[in-house]
Amino acid sequence: MPAKIIAIVGPKGGIGKSTISSNLAISLSDLQRRVIAVDLDLGGANLHILLGVKNYKHTLDDFILKKVDNLSEILIDTDIKNLKLICGGANIPDIANMPFQQKMKIINHLLKLDCDTIILDLSAGSSFNVIDFLLIANQQILITSPESPSLIKVYGFIKSTVFRMLNFHFKNIDAQDGLEILSLAKDTDTNPNLKTINGIFSELIKTNEEAVKTAREIISKFKPHIVINMVYKNEETRAGNVISTMLKQYLNVSSSVITAIPADEMVRRALFKNKPMMLLYPGSPFSLAVKKLAELCI
Ligand SMILES: Nc1ncnc2c1ncn2[C@@H]1O[C@H](COP(=O)(O)OP(=O)(O)O)[C@@H](O)[C@H]1O
Ligand SMILES: [Mg+2]
Repeated sequence: MPAKIIAIVGPKGGIGKSTISSNLAISLSDLQRRVIAVDLDLGGANLHILLGVKNYKHTLDDFILKKVDNLSEILIDTDIKNLKLICGGANIPDIANMPFQQKMKIINHLLKLDCDTIILDLSAGSSFNVIDFLLIANQQILITSPESPSLIKVYGFIKSTVFRMLNFHFKNIDAQDGLEILSLAKDTDTNPNLKTINGIFSELIKTNEEAVKTAREIISKFKPHIVINMVYKNEETRAGNVISTMLKQYLNVSSSVITAIPADEMVRRALFKNKPMMLLYPGSPFSLAVKKLAELCI
């Protein structure tokens, strides 16, 4: 069976993507999954630190620079049973903007890795690189903090993702009318009726009913799991409902589940000790919440 790919995404930096990726990877390996964690935060790679890996021979750079032929050759062993790592590259200038072909090569090799679960720790922002890796995943975990600036970024990020999905789809089925409407929808001041996905579909259905039908099916398969991280008070979890209502109402995207992860000072303590949180403080509120998340990811 092919590995399940889980993408950890979130457009804002510093909201816990790598912290959750590393500890989720450990939890899943503890549940007897053979896991490979992949650091795709190109330019800001730090997953190895969070997994307590000090020495490593290879990074993604070696694959990109063709020093090795296969991604499997750059797998790094960790001290954790069932868990291997692909370290992010750091030394190729401008790697965060890698060409499409390069990205496709990495994607094809990811799909061939021999394991049960692949965790992709992605970078912040809404670039095509992030979105294209997100789109190959079987499950997307969308991390946000409860505050409005992060929620607004999440909305913009999912909008870009849906536009990218529709763009690929309309190109695939050669729906020029769909592509034109998507292009017009970039300027919502001039075309306020194209602000929502339903608005776009209402326009397109006039000329291409089939394209709307298939596009709806594609969007309905995209069901990100929303994680509200660094929750201080229970009521902050409501941010999850706010964002999921916005995604449904304006972008036709249903979120599968909403999970809250508490703010936990032990996370910082583990970071100072250069040891994985899940191993140092397995009973802390953060670790318990990530273990629950892992059970939902199986
Ligand atoms: N639930 C949490 N409680 C406390 N601190 C957290 C929590 N999640 C993340 N952090 C801290 O937030 C900072 C950013 O986390 P990181 O995982 O590097 O974010 P990202 O990968 O999204 O940029 C780190 O210092 C990390 O220790
Ligand atoms: Mg990170």
